[in-house]
Amino acid sequence: MTLRVGLIGLGVVGAETARTLAKHASMIEARAGRPVVVTEVSARDRSKDRGVDLTACRWRDDPLELAASPDVDLVCEVIGGEGGVALASAEAALGAGKHFVTANKAMIARHGARLAAMAEANGASIAFEAAVAGGIPVLKALKEGLAGNRIDRVYGILNGTCNFILTEMFETGRAFDDVLAEAQALGYAEADPTFDIDGVDAAQKLAILSAIAFGGAPDFDAVETSGIRQVSALDIAFAKELGYRIRLLGVAVRSEMGVEQRVSACMTPAGSALARIDGVTNAVMIEGAPVGQSLLVGPGAGGGATASAVVADIVDIAGGRGGRGFGAAAASLGATPATPISARHGAYYIRLVVIDRPGVIAEVAGVFGRHGVSIESVLQHGRQPEEPVPVVMTTHETNEATIRAVASELGALAAAIEPPILMRIESA
Ligand SMILES: NC(=O)c1ccc[n+]([C@@H]2O[C@H](COP(=O)([O-])OP(=O)(O)OC[C@H]3O[C@@H](n4cnc5c(N)ncnc54)[C@H](OP(=O)(O)O)[C@@H]3O)[C@@H](O)[C@H]2O)c1
Repeated sequence: MTLRVGLIGLGVVGAETARTLAKHASMIEARAGRPVVVTEVSARDRSKDRGVDLTACRWRDDPLELAASPDVDLVCEVIGGEGGVALASAEAALGAGKHFVTANKAMIARHGARLAAMAEANGASIAFEAAVAGGIPVLKALKEGLAGNRIDRVYGILNGTCNFILTEMFETGRAFDDVLAEAQALGYAEADPTFDIDGVDAAQKLAILSAIAFGGAPDFDAVETSGIRQVSALDIAFAKELGYRIRLLGVAVRSEMGVEQRVSACMTPAGSALARIDGVTNAVMIEGAPVGQSLLVGPGAGGGATASAVVADIVDIAGGRGGRGFGAAAASLGATPATPISARHGAYYIRLVVIDRPGVIAEVAGVFGRHGVSIESVLQHGRQPEEPVPVVMTTHETNEATIRAVASELGALAAAIEPPILMRIESA
């Protein structure tokens, strides 16, 4: 019996999903064991050319009517947004016992556990592979291929826009604003790039990854989030000199206290796997036992990569292999204790700008000493007496609460002329 798909949203992802389902129809039928056909569609503008023949599909002005339609077995929402029409269509579809597929990380990071519970209660499947790292089947890898592992750490490059900007800054020495403008011109960054460059997009994906890796509900508010706005050409150059690359990393780690989740620009050793991921590519490293390390790399966004994941979810459901979204029973998706970021243990990079006068370095070293933080290396180039000069230090392992106290004291030194830049060093 045909699986009848209702598609809500016909933009970059929706139109490509419709194209892929049509173009690969016979292959998909073979893999699913039955035909998969888009029977109803909804978007805002009926007259827009979507580059795919939708004349056989029923058009619905109201997405919620589509979600409740008796002629649809699976609702695929690719509008976007944390709430609004997207959430209402999820609730309407699941409430009516229909399967639900989405690429919407914002909605799943906030409401995923409740929607998974609704799906389970109504005998439907929910799937959202496309919400995390686009074309990389990382949720499936965690839920299925690595199901026998205890996962200890999941981390990676989850935002292609930021990775493109950091790669360009490294290769050309240009400033952040300049490269951001280029990313916008190339279509890699939105006109309003806030969600990408402030780390929100990566934090939504990390919350979902973490929920699947460690069990529990996604907890977006528990992700300590910062982005790449503050990364300067100067820090990129110092990173290079110290043998690091700067990457925006999402990191989720299991600790004795719970799960620590953070998104931030990090120093990563130049030879490490993630430091070598350039441009818009995404990569996720999974560490677990007994598998050890497993790295997945691929395109994180774009119509093709995202539709690839959406269609995979649809094929699974059509073939009777639909799942529970988070890979565990809804009853087990409770709150997981969050490890506070102050407990993070690791090494750090600190850059100061100080007035170059006798005794300054001794003063700086004194602050580290008073807090018991041991300095691994110090870089200071040139001497310009009574002029501002950058001074860079890397530390041995300490904890985040201590290094923040150090940074705050360093910023208060009479010779310091701007707040210190603090970055985590991540052994990626
Ligand atoms: N683009 C990517 O690379 C990518 C990657 C991963 C995940 N995603 C996720 O995929 C989802 C869709 O992204 P996208 O890039 O495809 O967005 P998009 O190109 O902006 O498309 C959005 C679609 O939703 C329709 N729409 C908006 N409001 C609507 C409403 N009130 N009622 C009915 N239809 C409405 C629009 O209709 P009109 O066309 O008529 O205006 C459009 O077809 C988002 O959740 C996004 O986070 C996207």
